Amino acid sequence: MRHLKYSLLGLSAFVRGTSAWGALGHETVGYIAQEFLTSGALSFVKSSLGSTYNQSLGSAATWADNVRYETAYKWSAPYHFVDAEDDPLDDSCSVSETRDCGDGGCILTAIANYTTRIQETSLSASQRQEALKFIDHFLGDIGQPLHVEAYEVGGNDIDAVCGGKSTNLHAAWDTGILTTNINGSYGGNLQTYIAALVARIKSGEYKSLTSDWLSCTSITEPVSTKRSVATIEEDIKRLGAEKGKRASITPLECPLVWAREANAYDCSVVFSYDSGDDLCEGDYFDNAVPVIDLQLAKQGYRLAAWLNVIFDGETGLP
Ligand SMILES: *[C@@H]1O[C@H](CO)[C@@H](O)[C@H](O)[C@H]1NC(C)=O
Ligand SMILES: *[C@@H]1O[C@H](CO)[C@@H](O)[C@H](O)[C@H]1NC(C)=O
Ligand SMILES: *[C@@H]1O[C@H](CO)[C@@H](O)[C@H](O)[C@H]1NC(C)=O
Ligand SMILES: [Zn+2]
Repeated sequence: MRHLKYSLLGLSAFVRGTSAWGALGHETVGYIAQEFLTSGALSFVKSSLGSTYNQSLGSAATWADNVRYETAYKWSAPYHFVDAEDDPLDDSCSVSETRDCGDGGCILTAIANYTTRIQETSLSASQRQEALKFIDHFLGDIGQPLHVEAYEVGGNDIDAVCGGKSTNLHAAWDTGILTTNINGSYGGNLQTYIAALVARIKSGEYKSLTSDWLSCTSITEPVSTKRSVATIEEDIKRLGAEKGKRASITPLECPLVWAREANAYDCSVVFSYDSGDDLCEGDYFDNAVPVIDLQLAKQGYRLAAWLNVIFDGETGLP
């Protein structure tokens, strides 16, 4: 059963992305990644972020959301998402870089751009720190199903209820469901939640999945035929090889696969509610929580792998 319950009266004050995985989601991705960095990546992260961010991807992960409404960073707002023009209510989910990544760029081109820039030793330390903070943040956003969906402005224009409070579908996925889960099952303690996800990766239910997480093999759609590569190593190597030849605005293969994976949840879970449902309780909540846990854990692990390949030449991870 799928019904939409956005009302015309509810043309909400929310514009695209008033929120993004809230601070908790981004911090979760960053702190998880920090656990899996190999030596070269860890040393760059520590020295680049310094005491301002406690040398941690967890602390730095929300910076990109904090600045996006400042005049000086307005240009970065479209980089937090890709407007997939698919049809999730009709069970048709897809992401196409040519169809969906606007002329001004999107999260796919932004990841390529900052992956190039973080490696540019000719840039200043603060420019490379900025690149790191954007990568830290965008590898989180790309795992949020409504950051890879154009429908109703990524769900921002769909009224919803979470824990009895009015919100919108996008915000429920960014923060409402996650906060309710952390409050209800982890004593309201973010570090407890993060430690639980890390344990699942290292020795629990995610352990057998991690090599697939790093393979960049699409589970939903064939990868584009024009490219043969589909590993993090090849993506980053190709970017280096094409440096200076528009490579920085050519989306890479792995981020596209990650976007498609997140977008597939728009068809299976995100829009599957009945009118009047409270999204932060009952079946909808029970179905959404495992998806959010998985996406945050996966993107944290991928963020570590991405930086490890950049600074150590290999993921260094199982
Ligand atoms: C800073 O990081 C250290 C570990 O590297 C941790 O023990 C400490 O709690 C962190 N401080 C803050 C304010 O997050
Ligand atoms: C790449 O990043 C720089 C620095 O933030 C930015 O000025 C530029 O617009 C970006 N280019 C693209 C194509 O995203
Ligand atoms: C979670 O707990 C915090 C702190 O007690 C509270 O401010 C917040 O409203 C709670 N959020 C939800 C969604 O229950
Ligand atoms: Zn964001």
